[in-house]
Amino acid sequence: MRVEENKSLKNLNTFGIDCKAHYFVSVTTIEELKQALSLKTSERLFILGGGSNMLLTGNLDAFVLHINIKGIEILKETETEVLVKAMAGENWHEFVQYCIANDFGGLENLSLIPGNVGTAPIQNIGAYGVELKDTFESCNTVEIETLKEKEFTKVECAFEYRNSIFKNEGKEKYIITSVTFKLTKKNHKTSISYGDIQKVLNDKKIETPTIKDISEAVIAIRQSKLPDPKVLGNSGSFFKNPVIDSETFQEFRRNFPEAPFYEVSPTEFKIPAGWLIEKAGFKGQRFGDVGVHKNQALVLVNYGNATGKEIFQLAMNIQKKVKEMTGIFIEPEVNVF
Ligand code: EPU
Repeated sequence: MRVEENKSLKNLNTFGIDCKAHYFVSVTTIEELKQALSLKTSERLFILGGGSNMLLTGNLDAFVLHINIKGIEILKETETEVLVKAMAGENWHEFVQYCIANDFGGLENLSLIPGNVGTAPIQNIGAYGVELKDTFESCNTVEIETLKEKEFTKVECAFEYRNSIFKNEGKEKYIITSVTFKLTKKNHKTSISYGDIQKVLNDKKIETPTIKDISEAVIAIRQSKLPDPKVLGNSGSFFKNPVIDSETFQEFRRNFPEAPFYEVSPTEFKIPAGWLIEKAGFKGQRFGDVGVHKNQALVLVNYGNATGKEIFQLAMNIQKKVKEMTGIFIEPEVNVF
């Protein structure tokens, strides 16, 4: 375990922002993690996973702890189900590909999501009709204050749309070290009702898709809409899709009858933020080195040497204009530091 000083985080955040960590250490085992946590430092602690859901707006005067613990293990299996544990530092998509190669079903719709396994539960990652919580069994953590290991069950995680205990009461208290999933070995419960998936499968004339077919369809859809962070810095959806009450929704519908929406409950309606941002005129716009992606307005991009402050400024301009035009407040999904 080596503590580095003034380390550039450019290659460790998917926006590709060139900020420095005052102190930086990458840990590869739980023991090392505990050792690092017991180092006496006056700097605040900053936990770094895959760096795929954050925007750095300046250097971090912090002790950055990079969770790089690897490993995948089958804990238990029956004829029909398997419990698979993946360590926090495993790359999410590589883990999904491992599951598909072994014909373990449940994560295929979550193919190609950037980031690591250990940070996936924090925002309950989701795509194409599936969320992490659907196959989540439990996760192991280390409590920062006491260095004690603590397991969280699905109920304890209090998962919601892009939300969990780790964004609320558990925030900055626990470090997730591994996640266990309950996956199917046969009779996979596939989820293909999401319009885009159905279309790709129809085009390929696939009637009863395997989990590999679904994963490939999701990869094709994501590649067509979402920029590859290795090519164009970005952090996926910058904003959450807002959920509004009936009254706001009625008013919104009067002004924008053509807007897409999903009924979350009889009194709550989710509006795609991508649609609102496009309506506000930002889709495909570029301002210096920052911009709004041409195929998905929810994604802000770094064309090269953008600073985090510039990206944040654009996000605030978008938020303001969307509110002025549509009356709806959109909130960042990405964590801003
Ligand atoms: N839309 C537009 N203009 C745009 C983008 C979207 O009008 O520029 C409209 C589309 O026409 C469609 C609707 O918005 O009617 C939904 O679009 P899409 O299917 O692309 O999904 P999304 O709601 O924009 C969410 C997630 C994505 C996830 C997709 C697929 C959030 C904040 N984002 O996007 O997650 O991949 O659904 O399930 O919930 C991420 O979190 O980083 C992410 C990429």
